[in-house]
Amino acid sequence: MINIVLINASPKINEPSVSEYLVDAVGSCIDEAAASKYFISVRQSITRHKTGEDFAVISKADAIIITFPLYVFCLPGMLMRFLEDYQQYYVENGQNASHAKVYTIVNCGFPEPGINLEAVRVIKSFCQHVNMSFRFGIMIGGGGMLLGTKDAPFMKKTLKSMHDAYATIVQDIENDDLKEMDNISIAMNFPRRLYLFMGNRDWFSQAGKNGLKKKALYKRP
Ligand SMILES: Cc1cc2nc3c(=O)[nH]c(=O)nc-3n(C[C@H](O)[C@H](O)[C@H](O)COP(=O)(O)O)c2cc1C
Repeated sequence: MINIVLINASPKINEPSVSEYLVDAVGSCIDEAAASKYFISVRQSITRHKTGEDFAVISKADAIIITFPLYVFCLPGMLMRFLEDYQQYYVENGQNASHAKVYTIVNCGFPEPGINLEAVRVIKSFCQHVNMSFRFGIMIGGGGMLLGTKDAPFMKKTLKSMHDAYATIVQDIENDDLKEMDNISIAMNFPRRLYLFMGNRDWFSQAGKNGLKKKALYKRP
């Protein structure tokens, strides 16, 4: 049986997380009869002091899917820390570590999926350091609107593209052929200007909740 590890690296605690939704969605495409699935939340792994246990599972995995939000055009700090600590674990204990296939799913707030590319490259570089085989990334733009609109009819096309992308991961895990794969970009099927307008409104309402007026957001130190 194939061992697949699904990692959610959103630092969110009580809010709904896009990454968690994506992990569940790709996980549900994996046939339980053919593969065992092990789920890791990076935040919980670190805060509950169980990274050692999780690193042992990662080192034996056949495939790993790392899902995270883009933070400041890169990886959330806790994911960087987790991967650096795994690298250290690999150096000390990784003699028999498997040569896992690695996939990453990155979602960001801006509508352009391509801005996730640098973060995908960081995951690729990590794989080279720990003898894993980076396969490809799924880059999702406009992640901020996904949870609120996923059931709306205009999202059907986007959700279909996402489902096809998960299926490509599952097929690639099962496939012995290691031909090079391109990253997959997915954008929301929604007018960019309207998306940015709605996003700005959200900033203003957040400012209001924090006792600030709109013009305070434009102040410079
Ligand atoms: C601290 C922080 C930094 C962020 N940096 C970026 C960024 O550089 N570019 C971007 O497009 N979105 C950025 N975002 C937005 C998140 O990527 C976006 O909201 C994402 O959907 C959150 O996913 P999650 O629910 O899985 O945590 C940032 C969000 C936070 C909280």
